[in-house]
Amino acid sequence: ELAPLATELRGRLRDLEDEYRRSQGPEAEWTAERLRALLRTQLSGDQVIVVSNREPYIHERGEGGIVVKRPASGLVTAVEPVMRACSGTWIAHGSGSADQAVVDARDRVAVPPGHEDYWLRRVWLTPEEEQGYYYGFANEGMWPLCHVAHVRPVFRESDWEAYRAVNQRFADAVVAEARSDDPVVLVQDYHFALLPAMVREKLPQATILTFWHIPWPNPESFGICPWRREILQGMLGSTILGFHTRYHCKNFLETVDRYLEARIEHEHSTIAFRDKETLVESYPISIAWPDAGHAGWQPVADCRRHVVERLGLPAQACIAVGVDRFDYTKGILERLNAVERLLEKHPEMVGRFVFVQVAAPTRGALDEYKSFQQRVEQTAGRINQRFGKPDYQPVHLLARHHEPDAVNELFRAADICVVTSLHDGMNLVCKEFVAARDDLAGVLVLSRFAGAAREMPEALIVNPYHVEETADALHRAATMPAAEQRERMASLRSTVREFNVYRWAGRMLADAGRWRLRARIEARVRRFQADETAPHA
Ligand code: F6P
Repeated sequence: ELAPLATELRGRLRDLEDEYRRSQGPEAEWTAERLRALLRTQLSGDQVIVVSNREPYIHERGEGGIVVKRPASGLVTAVEPVMRACSGTWIAHGSGSADQAVVDARDRVAVPPGHEDYWLRRVWLTPEEEQGYYYGFANEGMWPLCHVAHVRPVFRESDWEAYRAVNQRFADAVVAEARSDDPVVLVQDYHFALLPAMVREKLPQATILTFWHIPWPNPESFGICPWRREILQGMLGSTILGFHTRYHCKNFLETVDRYLEARIEHEHSTIAFRDKETLVESYPISIAWPDAGHAGWQPVADCRRHVVERLGLPAQACIAVGVDRFDYTKGILERLNAVERLLEKHPEMVGRFVFVQVAAPTRGALDEYKSFQQRVEQTAGRINQRFGKPDYQPVHLLARHHEPDAVNELFRAADICVVTSLHDGMNLVCKEFVAARDDLAGVLVLSRFAGAAREMPEALIVNPYHVEETADALHRAATMPAAEQRERMASLRSTVREFNVYRWAGRMLADAGRWRLRARIEARVRRFQADETAPHA
């Protein structure tokens, strides 16, 4: 009875040894290929299903026909290369005006266009559902609740009902897409706190990995949510629950400890709740490295020339850039105040220092976002009025969507990249900037409240609430000698290269593989014991 089990164990041990050898040798680097190999060996090619709200490709109707857009989303930036490596199915909200026009009878379209590495399965929401679930509970409730960026969360009963109903719709889509009773389901983010338990109910054998892309607050802050218990119970349907940092894991364990009757094993970072165990682990998210498109990058000098010409900047400008969704958690106002203070303190910078802010429109239907965007526009206008000249504008606010190539050009043209989030799970903009600088030039100014600050100490780390400190960091960045820039950038690049998104996914999936193996062994041993104790005929 146990012979097949022994064979399987021997096979798995061989795989683990191979994996260990690779991790010690020159192949220590994580690549798409290594991730594929891991899927083949540790998950024996099992089906991978991703669930997220935001879709990786949006089909929009334009003047010249249908165009495909890539959304401004850290989640999409990270999960897309993983999905390309794994194939499988990605389930997401179909939000584009031409999305329905391009799907097949099962609401699916193969993406990326021209490559067709995996399926995108779209779920349609009514405007009411989108209002309650996405704008309401997810973005007026959970988003400010978890970020603690001094914006008051709003909790409405009707939003909660919509959130629950939409989580159920997506859970049903997962079940419908599953080809076996134990797929690997990768649940993304705060839009789907209830979905893991809903999937678990229908597919008890599924391996559910939930990754929370935003911070997790302390128990007191989380405790104001009227449905705190339901949210925690929903999340504990996961096999593995991932956060960016240990600190967020600790907050989550303490929150469960405070509000649920569960057994927590701090040593193993597991939570046992209603006969089910969840591993709570930190997996710092990252970007693809090497970037598949880097061979086509324009030389840095050309990028700079294009940006200078396009924006009408002084030829010798010191260019600082910020690239964010237009969101109050990103510290855009704070960084504008720091730019203003820099120009006050260092008049020699006036006429030379230029700050370019790309602000991708986001959640514009919400009052909090509308008023934030107005305040940013007013502040940028004030600075331009104070320090601008006929041929010089210190702040360029580009409040429109930029495709990844345009962002990359800006990164390569810049002398400084400014990331001043008031609170951020990780933040991938800083990693993208570093990846773009193969010339080893440029300085990163980074908020201490972004998860990335823990991995990137060679950046100039600032407290964005402290205007003076941030202005001084901008000045230091603008005057940093090239040799120091090179040294810092080389070190940052080796960190991002090593801790890339394939490692993020690989670690999670390897943990999932071990978990599945353990579950299978336990099930077989239980069967064997049951046979042994059964009365023989
Ligand atoms: O930060 C978490 C995250 O899911 C990001 O991936 C993404 O940028 C954002 O939140 C969601 O933005 P949106 O509401 O536009 O999808």
